[in-house]
Amino acid sequence: MFYEPARRNHGLPHDPLKAIVAPRPIGWISTLSEDGVANLAPYSFFNLVSEHPTIVMFSSAGLKDTVRNARASGQFVCNLATLALVEQVNLTSKAIAPDESEFDLADLARAPSRMVKPPRVAAAPCALECVVTESYDLKDRHGAPSGRHVTFGEVVGVHIDDAFIEGGLVRTDKLQALTRCGYFDYAWVDTLISVPRPE
Ligand SMILES: Cc1cc2nc3c(=O)[nH]c(=O)nc-3n(C[C@H](O)[C@H](O)[C@H](O)COP(=O)(O)O)c2cc1C
Repeated sequence: MFYEPARRNHGLPHDPLKAIVAPRPIGWISTLSEDGVANLAPYSFFNLVSEHPTIVMFSSAGLKDTVRNARASGQFVCNLATLALVEQVNLTSKAIAPDESEFDLADLARAPSRMVKPPRVAAAPCALECVVTESYDLKDRHGAPSGRHVTFGEVVGVHIDDAFIEGGLVRTDKLQALTRCGYFDYAWVDTLISVPRPE
């Protein structure tokens, strides 16, 4: 089959695109509101886009609390979503009032960050502390605003639970990093193959 995304003419019961660009890492993003409320939400339009400088990005469909808080405070934290936390990850995607915290909704303990103010998810084995570098509205190919907002942040601090470091390597398979596929599907990393680059 072939279809044009802008025309949404795939003829399928659900948009297939996110099942193709899969799995996607999940940035489980914590921010602080101007009133000091700790916000937490998963974003799978998320990735590491540069190693040095170390830059991550996420994209919000609409001006959600996470992007509002990140823009206003200039800071966010990406917590690593894992298989063990899938229920909490899902729960924190619930739309709740900005004066309520998803940490409390999902019964997640906060851990202090070192370089930025938003707290980390204590149960997440890794977290990236970030300072916003750019945040802007995406345009389509005609230059029209899309209502999608991308935010980039430089990672200024990285937390790793030492239990997942073996022989100097972080064991992604033991972390069971949670990823997002299409529809309501998730996958996790539990199998790795190591293929050295050609000389
Ligand atoms: C696994 C997962 C990934 C998600 N990824 C995104 C995303 O990339 N962009 C987005 O706008 N919403 C995404 N959502 C929905 C948001 O998490 C949801 O709208 C949430 O309420 C936003 O919270 P906030 O207003 O506190 O930022 C995702 C939901 C789930 C469960």
